[in-house]
Amino acid sequence: MNKNILLGVTGGIAIYKVVDVVSRLKKLDYNIKIIMTDSACEFVSPMTFETIGKCDVKNKMFHKNSHKIVEHIDLANWADLFLVAPASANIMAKINHGIADDLLTSTALAYTKPIMFCVSMNTNMLNNPSTQKNIEELKEKNHLIIDSNSGMLACDTKGDGRLKEPWEIVEEVENYFCKKDLKGKKVLITAGATVERIDPVRYITNDSSGKMGYSIAKKAFMRGADVTIISGKTSVDSPYGIENIKVQSAIDMKEQIESCVDDYDCLIMAAAVSDFKVKNRKDLKIKKQDGIHSLELEENPDILKSLNKKENQIFIGFAAETNNLIKNAEKKLNKKNLDYIVLNDVSKKDIGFNSEYNKVSIISKNQILELDKDTKLNIADKILDLIK
Ligand code: CTP
Repeated sequence: MNKNILLGVTGGIAIYKVVDVVSRLKKLDYNIKIIMTDSACEFVSPMTFETIGKCDVKNKMFHKNSHKIVEHIDLANWADLFLVAPASANIMAKINHGIADDLLTSTALAYTKPIMFCVSMNTNMLNNPSTQKNIEELKEKNHLIIDSNSGMLACDTKGDGRLKEPWEIVEEVENYFCKKDLKGKKVLITAGATVERIDPVRYITNDSSGKMGYSIAKKAFMRGADVTIISGKTSVDSPYGIENIKVQSAIDMKEQIESCVDDYDCLIMAAAVSDFKVKNRKDLKIKKQDGIHSLELEENPDILKSLNKKENQIFIGFAAETNNLIKNAEKKLNKKNLDYIVLNDVSKKDIGFNSEYNKVSIISKNQILELDKDTKLNIADKILDLIK
C-alpha cells in the first residue's frame, strides 16, 4: 500500500525547492497532505502546492465544520512520515519545546513517530547555540535531522544552511521507508569502466555507464548495509550518501580493492575492467609526426581471480557475454572462485550497458536463476537478496 506523507512547510526562501519535492513524491505515488504555516503562505500560495501535489493544503487550526474531526489529531494519525521542509530555526525550536500554537506545531505534538526535519536557514542562525541545542535535543528525542548543504545562500553569503536538493530529500524519504534487512552487513561494490591511458589526453575504455553497480550500491544502502563504492569512469550521478572512491585504471582498482576487501562481508564486482593496458604509456601527448600506427597492449591482472576470499565472505562477479552465455559465465564462476556470477547479454541494445533495464541470470555452483527483464534497481534487489 502507498505510504502517507504529511509535509509541514515553513516560511523560508528555500520553499521553491519543496514544490519540486512534492512533484517528485507525487510521481513516486506517495499519498500527500500538506500543512503550511502562515509564514510559508507569505512565500508561496497554497494553490501552488495544491496543484503540484493534487492534495489538500491545510493552514488554519480553526475553521468552519471543525467540530466534525479533530484535524491535527487526524493528520498525525494518518501520516506514515511527517516531513518538515524547509525546517526553519523557529519550527525546530517550537517543536523541541512542545509549543503548539498553530496547525503544524499542534500536529507535530500529536505525532508519535520520528519527524524528519530538512534544515534550511542562514549560517549564523544555524550556528547559533540555541539552534544547535535544539537540533541536538531533537536528535536525542529520536527525530531525524537532514543536515543542510553548504553553498550560496539567499542572503548573498556562502556557508552551511542551504536546503538539501529535492532529489536528496526524496532519497531520504525512500531510505526511511525501506526495510533494513542488510543492517550490519559491509558491502564493497565496484562500478563503471576502468580507463587505460595512452597519453595525457587519450585513453582506452568501454561502454559501462556505472548504472548497474550504482543501483546495487543505492539499494544496499537503502536496505541498511554499510556500503563503499570503488568506481571507474561513469556517466551517472554517484548514489546519495555513499562513500565513492574514484579510480582510473584496472591496476588502481585492484590496489584499492586489495587495501580494504578483508573488512567487507561481500564484494560485488560490477565494474567493467579493461582486460588490457597500453604497454608504453606516454607522459607527453603523442604527436601525429611521431607516426604511431599501432598500440602495444599487455594484459591487466584479473582482479577477482587474484583475491584471497576469506571464509564467510561472499564474492559476486558479473559476466558480460555476447555468445555461449551460460557456458562462458560458468567458466568465469569457477575460474574466479565466485559464489555467484550475474550473467548479462551485452549484445542486446535494450538492456545492459547504458540502459535503465537489464535481463540477467544469476548462476551459482548448483543453480541457474533466470530473472525477467526489469529495471536495474529491481534487479539490484534480487542480487542483494543473495547476501541477506
Ligand atoms: N574482472 C576482473 N578483472 C579483470 C577483468 C574482469 O576482476 N581484469 C571481473 C569483472 O568485474 C567481472 C568479472 O570479472 O565481475 C567478469 O568480467 P568480464 O569482463 O565478463 O570477463 P573477463 O574475465 O574479462 O573475460 P572476457 O573478457 O574474456 O570475457
